[in-house]
Amino acid sequence: MIGNKICRFDELESTNDFAKMNYMNIDHGTIVVASRQTKGRGRNSNTWKSDQGNLYLSMILKSDISLKKIFQYVSVTSLAIVDLLENCGITANIKYPNDILVDHKKIAGILIESAGDSSKLKYIIIGVGINANQIDFKELSEKVTSMRLETSKQCTIERVLLQFIHYYNLHTNDDFENVYRKYLSKSIVLGKKIKYDNEIYTINSIDIDGVIHLENEIMKKRVIMNEISLEELYDW
Ligand code: BTN
Repeated sequence: MIGNKICRFDELESTNDFAKMNYMNIDHGTIVVASRQTKGRGRNSNTWKSDQGNLYLSMILKSDISLKKIFQYVSVTSLAIVDLLENCGITANIKYPNDILVDHKKIAGILIESAGDSSKLKYIIIGVGINANQIDFKELSEKVTSMRLETSKQCTIERVLLQFIHYYNLHTNDDFENVYRKYLSKSIVLGKKIKYDNEIYTINSIDIDGVIHLENEIMKKRVIMNEISLEELYDW
């Protein structure tokens, strides 16, 4: 269960960094929200530009956590975002492992971080950025969208936050096989071609533990989630 406690800030460098630095004093399931971030971070060491108007949150998980469950956190979080968007009339899909897209444009991203050794994790922090009211993405406008751009309506950040919490808890309480099936039904990568290790492969399947299976005429490969980035995804 997440969201029993919500810590709100006008500005933080990064909600993930705040949660990391203060994890000892933050209860399991607490959500840290900032109206803007000055050093927002994305996956692969990218920056996540974080002006006022969007949702920036991190949830901190401390009990019953395991690195074996990383794909479960990824799936539950991705589906929670897809569902809240659907609730606003926006059809979104998931690009493995955890980019949320609307018609190939990114609307939300997820950054999961942990500390401690795998047998004794200190925490898992799940950072979520959802483009809510931003309408100008400058040079990224071909690749990025927001709830407001999709619906032509201003949205209330608080409502988006509460919906996220609602759907996250709903999917966490569901049997993971159901969640996994729903995740696959929203995934856009199956059957697509990608470049991996300088070779072109077709994405054949994604296992329930998040391992992705690639195949071409010569080889089959199984790749774990952290070792692949589907930046170059082809439709052909
Ligand atoms: C991605 O690259 O797609 C992941 C983006 C994650 C951004 C969120 S915003 C809230 C949290 N704090 C951060 O610094 N990053 C994550």
